Amino acid sequence: MIFAKPSARTRVSFETGFEWMGGHALFLGPNDIGIGKREAIKDISRLFSRYNDLVMARLFDHDHITELAEYASVPIINGLTDYNHPCQIMADIFTVWEHRADLEDLKVVYIGDGNNIVHSWLHLAMRFPMHFVCSCPEGYEPDPDTIQKARDVGISNVEVIYDPNLAVKDADVVYTDVWASMGKKDETDMREKIFKDYQVDESLMESSGKHTFFMHCLPAERGREVTDGVMEADYSIVFDQAENRMHVQNAIMVYLSENK
Ligand code: CP
Ligand code: NVA
Repeated sequence: MIFAKPSARTRVSFETGFEWMGGHALFLGPNDIGIGKREAIKDISRLFSRYNDLVMARLFDHDHITELAEYASVPIINGLTDYNHPCQIMADIFTVWEHRADLEDLKVVYIGDGNNIVHSWLHLAMRFPMHFVCSCPEGYEPDPDTIQKARDVGISNVEVIYDPNLAVKDADVVYTDVWASMGKKDETDMREKIFKDYQVDESLMESSGKHTFFMHCLPAERGREVTDGVMEADYSIVFDQAENRMHVQNAIMVYLSENK
C-alpha cells in the first residue's frame, strides 16, 4: 500500500481486510519510498510486481497511477488520486443498495466541490442508470470531459444545478465532501466563503420532500460542509459507508486476484 497522502479509512480498511483474507499488507507512507522523487514510478511498478500480488496506491497526480499500472504485472488498485476515488464510490453504491433495498429510479445529489468523489460518481453513472446531480458554486464544477462522457453513454441523467435547494428535490441520497481536498487545504479559508451556501444542514435535508439518506465519504469537517446534526441524524449512513469500504475492497481484491 503506497500512500502519498494521509488516510484513516483507506489504510485501515485495506490493511484489516487483507489480513482477514489471510494476506499481509505493507504500509508505505509519504516519506518511505518517495515514488516519482527518489525513484521513477515505472521502476517501483516493476520492483513491486516481483514482491507483491496486489498494489494499492493513493497518489496526487492521476497520471502517476496510470503509469504505475502500465508498467506493473500485478493489479494496481486506485486508493484515490486528485482525479477520482473508485473504491469509495463502489462502497457507496453498495451501501445505498443495502439501505434502499433496490437501486431503481435512484436520484443522488452531491452538494459541494466538483472533486475526485464527483468524478467517480460520474464514472458510476456511465455503467449504472441513475439521476446524478452535482450542485456546486460556479467555477467548482467537475471536469467537463467527464461530465460529457457520462452524458454520452446515455443511460443516466447527469445535471449540474447551482442552486442546492433546487437540486435536492426528490433526492434519495444527499452526499457531500470537504470543500478543500487534500492538496488544497491552503485554500480552506477562501473556500469557506465561496461554499457557505452549500452546507448540508437539517433544513436542506428536509427540503428534499422525501426520506433522504445523508452520505459523506469522510473525513467530515463538521460545521463546514455538514452540520453536526445531519452527521448524527437517523438518516445519516456515513459509518455504514465507511464499514463497507472494507467489504467491497475485499471483493475487489478477490476479483483481481482471480482475474489477473
Ligand atoms: N474516505 C476515505 O478515503 O478516507 P481516508 O482519506 O481516511 O482514507
Ligand atoms: N475529496 C477528498 C476525499 C477524501 C476521502 C480529498 O481528496 O481530500
